[in-house]
Amino acid sequence: MARIVGGIGTSHIPAIGIAMAKQQCEDPYWRPFFQAYGPVRNWLEAVQPTVAIVIYNDHGLNFFLDKMPAFAIGAAAEYRNADEGWGLPTLTPFPGDTAFSWHLIESLSAADFDLTTCQEMLVDHGFVVPMQLMWPNTPAWPVRTIPIHVNTVQHPLPTPRRCLKFGEALGQAIASWPQDERVVVLGTGGLSHQLDGRRAGFINKPFDLYCLEKIERDPEALARYSIRDLVELAGTQGPELIQWLVMRGALGSAVRRLESNYQVPISNTGSGLLLLETAA
Ligand code: DHB
Ligand code: FE
Repeated sequence: MARIVGGIGTSHIPAIGIAMAKQQCEDPYWRPFFQAYGPVRNWLEAVQPTVAIVIYNDHGLNFFLDKMPAFAIGAAAEYRNADEGWGLPTLTPFPGDTAFSWHLIESLSAADFDLTTCQEMLVDHGFVVPMQLMWPNTPAWPVRTIPIHVNTVQHPLPTPRRCLKFGEALGQAIASWPQDERVVVLGTGGLSHQLDGRRAGFINKPFDLYCLEKIERDPEALARYSIRDLVELAGTQGPELIQWLVMRGALGSAVRRLESNYQVPISNTGSGLLLLETAA
């Protein structure tokens, strides 16, 4: 049976991938940020997940404003990234797991969640940067991957409550896959940031710290916010928090926090990191 070993919430800021490509991780600006990922990498090394399910939002590489699904899932044998204008390098393709993807699609559909199924899918910084952060400098990715996109780009966005419920259904879908897999679920993006408009540069540290605490112990409290609330409290890109809610929903009620970190600002963003282990 497939089993979720844990969940990780992480930022996906493109500048992180550029710092890695330019080998600037030891620069004074970046050092504390990358150091925080050491314990998470050690944990991954210890638990050896076989599959990473990555919840993220495409920002315009695979989907654009003309066609923007609320929920989409990869069902491809491999995934590639491509130039999206940030200067991120093209990486070794990420292996997929089509059979597991189709099981998730069928199971989620039976639970009333209809996803756009992508038998071809380009993955952008929302997926790629967290993968690099988890497994830096690997000649071959040590996990198969399943990308799941949740729209945070073109309004209306799925509500936080729906995303938590989607995560719960995802957790059940994973648990009902008969193959022996150790699954890690990544929720990427956030925390507070606003990249454009009159409040460009807006960050809300107290709210970010509140989210880091509530995601772990009381995700329902965050599910009560509307998307409008999140924009007001965390900036126009703050609703990326819903990716974390999907991840948290998948883990079930009992979790143990192994790591929590917050750095501000990284690029334009309040950058959160959270490692939650499922309590067996
Ligand atoms: C930044 C943050 C993001 O989430 C993103 O998608 C792009 C840029 C930033 O802070 O630079
Ligand atoms: Fe983003």
